[in-house]
Amino acid sequence: MKITLIGTGHVGLVTGACLAEKGHRVICVDNNRPKIAALKAGRIPIYEPGLEEIVRNNCRKKRLFFSTNIKTAVQGAEVIFIAVGTPLGPDGAADLTQVENVARTIAPNLKGYTVIVEKSTAPVATGEKIKAVIKKYAPADASFDLVSNPEFLQEGVAIQTTMHPDRIVLGVESKKAEEVMRKLYRDFNAPVIVTDLKSAELIKHASNAFLALKISYANALSIICELVQADVTQVTKGMGMDQRISPHFLNAGIGYGGYCFPKDLNAFFKISEDIGYDFNLLKEVQKINLGQRDRFIKKIENELWVIKGKRIGLLGLSFKPDTDDIRESPGIDIARRLSERGAILKVYDPKAMGPARAVLPNLPRRGGGKIIFCRNPYEAARQSDCLVITTDWPEFKTLDLPRLKKNMAHPTIIDGRNIFSPTQMKKLGFVYRSIGRV
Ligand code: UDX
Repeated sequence: MKITLIGTGHVGLVTGACLAEKGHRVICVDNNRPKIAALKAGRIPIYEPGLEEIVRNNCRKKRLFFSTNIKTAVQGAEVIFIAVGTPLGPDGAADLTQVENVARTIAPNLKGYTVIVEKSTAPVATGEKIKAVIKKYAPADASFDLVSNPEFLQEGVAIQTTMHPDRIVLGVESKKAEEVMRKLYRDFNAPVIVTDLKSAELIKHASNAFLALKISYANALSIICELVQADVTQVTKGMGMDQRISPHFLNAGIGYGGYCFPKDLNAFFKISEDIGYDFNLLKEVQKINLGQRDRFIKKIENELWVIKGKRIGLLGLSFKPDTDDIRESPGIDIARRLSERGAILKVYDPKAMGPARAVLPNLPRRGGGKIIFCRNPYEAARQSDCLVITTDWPEFKTLDLPRLKKNMAHPTIIDGRNIFSPTQMKKLGFVYRSIGRV
């Protein structure tokens, strides 16, 4: 099928590449010229395992194209995806400027029948607004249907979660649009759930909020566990074996980060407020999440007493493993806060050093602190009074611990992701503090 995708962010680019991989002819459009030039040359602006290969492969096979010209790209498309950003606005609601702009731009260029898909995460009833704008600007002989097809891809495993989704949600208003979408996803081995437009829009917000809630629940439990000297990993393991609960997204730690959860939770709270419901549960989810960062700093203080002038190694700047994305990353926040308190920070991340340098400049701080960017975890540990772990990168789990210990001025590790066993660490002679475990 002939597909046009507007917006080449994480969602747009991965969706476009995966649809091309399934044999469709896909044009990805973005108004960012340098980005499109880089993509045309086979350079991917984000680190996402497997993506570069799929993009290059499908460009070579002439199934995937990149363009900055939205007008020509939409002509002849059977399906147009709107996958532009919906960032957080100043009032906590999603800023839909880009979505509206795209709707206005594509409308006059429509010909015949087209299915227009809302892929961006947007508040419930955004579909209605997109429809109204397109109707207003489309030529009289053009017809279209709007579909809500939310994306559930997870960064770091984006190809896997797009190629093999748990479900494909289609919010439709006509049988014709449903058939087009079913044809589009024919080769995906996933159950399809067909709903009305607004329900599909809500599924996305409801899912993200529920996953964040699960994490915050585990984090609240970790506090109880610390107070009664129990082990949160054992508690959540026991809970997760109940199929109604499931073990996923029950890992306690320094809390969730990333572009989606914090933004979508805020937006969902705002939508609910606007329509007359105080979804306070979501506020509590956010409060617990940010509280984990404060508690983590407290743990560091408990070991070091005064932060100022101490050498602290910090492992993990991306918000989760297998990505270079540092948006709303707990590791970046902790690094900033420690350096503001005058620590001499030695940071390391396998992929996010470039983006981190841009937001954590290597300058002496007011409190005397500074940030040193290291080449590997052992360099970060060298002569440190303490090492903190803020992202659960697989390579941190296999560190040579005796070597690490030898490097450190004092063998104290504060682990915000529970990647080591407390018994093992004690045996090796570390002072080891983690989350919700003794
Ligand atoms: C999320 C949703 O999972 C995805 O469906 C949606 O499309 C976009 O938002 P993503 O932001 O890529 O995806 O990351 P995800 O894997 O969900 O992790 C989010 C954060 O939660 C990370 O910081 C991660 O470290 C943290 N997390 C996850 C926990 O702290 N505990 C867990 O048990 C799971």
